[in-house]
Amino acid sequence: MFITILSDVCKLDGEGQMNGTHVCRIHVKRDVGVVRPQSSDRCMTREPLAGEFRTHPTWNKSMPVNGQGVFTFNITRNAPFLVVMTTATTSDNVKLTIGETFAELGITHGNEYTRLSRIEKQHVGYEEDRQISYWVSCNRDSLVLKYGKGYTMEETTLLECDLLTRATTREEQKEIRDRYHVLFSAEGKGIVELYDSKAFISSSALKRAKAIDSERSVCFRKNPFIRNLSPFVLHSDHTTLSVLDSGLYMLSGSLPPGCKEMYDNIRKIELDSPPEVDGVLLSDAIRFSIDTNGCLLHNMLQEKARYSCHQHNARETYLRVTLGENLGDSPGIPYVLEIWPSKHYSPIHNHGNANAVIKVLFGQINVSIYNKHTTDPDEKPLKTFVANSGDVTWISQDWYQTHKLWNNTADYCATIQCYKYDPGDTTHWSYFDYVGENSTIEGFLPSSDITFRDMRQKVLDEYRQTLCGSTQVHQDLSTVQ
Ligand SMILES: [Fe+2]
Repeated sequence: MFITILSDVCKLDGEGQMNGTHVCRIHVKRDVGVVRPQSSDRCMTREPLAGEFRTHPTWNKSMPVNGQGVFTFNITRNAPFLVVMTTATTSDNVKLTIGETFAELGITHGNEYTRLSRIEKQHVGYEEDRQISYWVSCNRDSLVLKYGKGYTMEETTLLECDLLTRATTREEQKEIRDRYHVLFSAEGKGIVELYDSKAFISSSALKRAKAIDSERSVCFRKNPFIRNLSPFVLHSDHTTLSVLDSGLYMLSGSLPPGCKEMYDNIRKIELDSPPEVDGVLLSDAIRFSIDTNGCLLHNMLQEKARYSCHQHNARETYLRVTLGENLGDSPGIPYVLEIWPSKHYSPIHNHGNANAVIKVLFGQINVSIYNKHTTDPDEKPLKTFVANSGDVTWISQDWYQTHKLWNNTADYCATIQCYKYDPGDTTHWSYFDYVGENSTIEGFLPSSDITFRDMRQKVLDEYRQTLCGSTQVHQDLSTVQ
C-alpha cells in the first residue's frame, strides 16, 4: 500500500528561529504502515553527514539538457554518497544524500541548506556489496524532484518533492521560481556531481567501486520522470482524442525504434492465419498435442520438466518454437512462438537489456513486473497485468525489462516474442538473466526447443490422424528436438 503524507518543511533563519516558510509537499512511498513526519523533519539547517564527504567530486558531468533529466548511477557503495545538481555560475545546488538507511533531498540557496524531504527505512539507502541503480529526476518546469532505486518507475520512487505545491497564488509560485531560477533554468550550464564519503576512500570497497565506476555506469535521460508508460501498444492509426488524453496505451509511433520495427513486423500475425485445410486449426492441434499422452508437445514438456532448472516444479516450463535464424542483432533467434500450457509459468527474468515486443496470439497471459535488482524468486511484483489474445506489450532497456509470465487459465496460451538489441547497446548480452531457486542470478541462453516448421507439420499430422479415426498417435516422439 502506498500512502502520501503532507509535511510542512520549515526553514530556520540565521538565528536558529523558525520562519515558518512552507517549502514543499513531501510524498513518501511506503509499502506498510503510516509514516508521520518527525519533529526533526520540520526544522533543519544542517546538511546530513556534513563534513563527511570529500571536497572534490568522484565524478562530474554536464547535464545533456540544462536543469532537467533523470540521472542514474549504477554503482556499488559501502558508504554514504552525495549527488549534487548545480550550475557553473552558482553555489546554489540540489543535494541528494544517500545513507545506509536514509535518503534526503535538500536544496542550498544563498549558502543556506533546507531539507526538502527525507525517508528513513531499511533498503532506501545504499546497499553494501551490491551494484544498485540509484536514480534522481529533476523537472525544471514543475520543480519536482524524485529519487528511487532500480528502474525509474512510479513503483520504485522513494522520495518526491514538489517545490511549488504550497504556493497558492501565482505570486507565490513566481517567488519560488525566482528564488531557485538558477538551478531550474535552460540557460545555466547544468552540472551533476557525485561525492563519496571520506570513509569510502579509505575502505577496501574503493578498488571494487573504481572497477565499475566508469562513465558508462552513469546514465543520463534528457527528460524528467513524470509517470509510467503503458505496457500496452496501440497502433497509432487507432489513436483518438480520448486515447491521447487517457495515457492508457503506448502508441506505436512512440515506441523505441527497435520495438517499433518488431511491432510493425508482427502486429498482424495470428496463430490460425491462414486457416488450415481440412477444417484443422493449428490452435486446436497445439492443444491436442499438449494434452495427449505420447504426442509431440506433451512429450517435449515432460522432457523439459525433467531437465528444468527448478526440478521441483514441472510447471515452470514453456516451449520455445523458433522462427527463422539468429541474425546477430538479438539474444537468440529474434522471433519465437512461445507455448504456455495451463498453469505454467517462467521464472523471474530479464532480457539482457534488449528491446522486445510480445503479442498474445491465443489465450491469456499474466505479466508480473519486477524491479531491476530482484533476487528473491518469491519477490512481490511491482505491478501485474493481464494480456489477452490480440494484445501487444513492449519491453525496453528501461521499461518492463524484468518480468515473469504466467498462464493462469484452464487453456493453453500462445505468444510471439520478438527481440532486438537497442541501437545504443554495445554489449549485446546474449543471455536472459533469471532468478534461481536459491536467490542466485543465473544466465539462460535463449535456445530453440523446435522450429516452427517442424512443430506445425507434426502437430497438424497428429491431429488430422485423430480426426480421421486413427488410434495410432505417434509413439516415437519422445526425443526432444
Ligand atoms: Fe521474458
